[in-house]
Amino acid sequence: MELNKLLEIARTERFHTKPIQIRCCTAAGCLSSNSQAVKDNLDASVKAAGLEKRLQVAGVGCMPLCYQGPLVQVDNQENLTEAKFYEKVIPEDATKIISEVNGEVTDLQKVICISHFLLVNYLFS
Ligand code: FES
Repeated sequence: MELNKLLEIARTERFHTKPIQIRCCTAAGCLSSNSQAVKDNLDASVKAAGLEKRLQVAGVGCMPLCYQGPLVQVDNQENLTEAKFYEKVIPEDATKIISEVNGEVTDLQKVICISHFLLVNYLFS
C-alpha cells in the first residue's frame, strides 16, 4: 500500500475518533475476570449519560498488568495529561468511571499510578 493511501486512511480514522477513548482490556486474563461485563456496562453507562458523541468504549488487547485486571484506560485526546488507568474494575464500577470521565467526583479508588503503569509497560514491551 502506498504512503499517501495510508495517510488518507489515518486522516479519515482520526476524523471519526471521539475525543475521549475508554479502553477496556478484553484479552484472556482480564476476560477471565469478567471484563466483557465491564465493557458492556461501560457502553451502557455512556449511553445512559448521553455521552456517545464524546466517549467511545473499545475492547483492547493486553496492557501488561494482567494481575491488576480487569484494566480500563481512559485517554482524553483534548488533554493527554489526563490519561487514567483503573485496576481491578468490576461491572458495577462502570457508572462511576463514566461519571469521573465526565468531571464528577466519586468514591471509586481504583486509579493506578501512571508512572507504575508506564514502567511496567516499558519493561514488558
Ligand atoms: S489480560 Fe488484561 S492486562 Fe493482560
